[in-house]
Amino acid sequence: MQTVDQLDPLRRAVEGLRADGPVAIVPTMGALHEGHLTLVREARQRAAHVVASIFVNPRQFGVGEDLDAYPRPRERDLELLAGEGVSLVWAPTVEVMYPAGYATNVSVSGVSEELCGAARPGHFDGVATVVCKLFNQVRPDMAFFGEKDWQQLAVIRRMARDLDLVAPYADAIHGVATVREADGLAMSSRNGYLTADERARAEALPAAMHKAIAALEAGGDVGSVLDEVARELLAAGFVSVDYVELRDPDRLRPVVALGEHGARLFVAARIGRARLIDNMAVGGAKAVPSR
Ligand code: PAF
Repeated sequence: MQTVDQLDPLRRAVEGLRADGPVAIVPTMGALHEGHLTLVREARQRAAHVVASIFVNPRQFGVGEDLDAYPRPRERDLELLAGEGVSLVWAPTVEVMYPAGYATNVSVSGVSEELCGAARPGHFDGVATVVCKLFNQVRPDMAFFGEKDWQQLAVIRRMARDLDLVAPYADAIHGVATVREADGLAMSSRNGYLTADERARAEALPAAMHKAIAALEAGGDVGSVLDEVARELLAAGFVSVDYVELRDPDRLRPVVALGEHGARLFVAARIGRARLIDNMAVGGAKAVPSR
């Protein structure tokens, strides 16, 4: 496995890999867990080579967020990626990604603006900008992202369609199912911020969501069911609830009554130093994301 941090060696290395067949990218901010490794495994099934990027992107962190505290266990990350058969790691510095004079922003309106976009203004501009740059730098045939960040996946697909990206085409942007701990908590690099007590309480998040899904599928009133999720999280020790929302899976528009196509339940809530997010399918054909 080769690791590069400059653009010229990156481009030369990717051209070499491309001779063997399709190249996939798995973009990450490092602090890897089983969820990231699952993305790599999925990518390896479909591509001749996997390029993983590790870049803690300052543009997607707001003022007062955890940019400085974000874990950066570089050696461990590289060992994990090598163990999964990644061919190339792209790990640019902030100066390489955003050189002096950098002035361009990619902003996807609509789908970026609600849920986490409302709670974290500018976050998805940062994500879209860096992912657009990663795609242009690596020019992969396909890309893999976790469904835990469902809204992020929707933003990236919208961007790829709107900008007519060819590397990768919008249809080659794959979402991979969320990987969960034994108690149902979605894996996240930010789970490491939790104390043992907070971690034990955090299982209330997937539990409340499963209970809400059962209630919604049994015909429960959407507003009352969503309110109950927030109440349960606060009772379990979450300090605040950013949102509990039922949305359509593609454009993320509010759903007020569960229809035959189903919907998706989205929750973001804070416990201790961590802001946890999760989403799950409700009804329908389990509301798969469209490409
Ligand atoms: O999901 C993440 O880890 C990041 O948002 C991404 C896609 C690597 C962009 O920085």
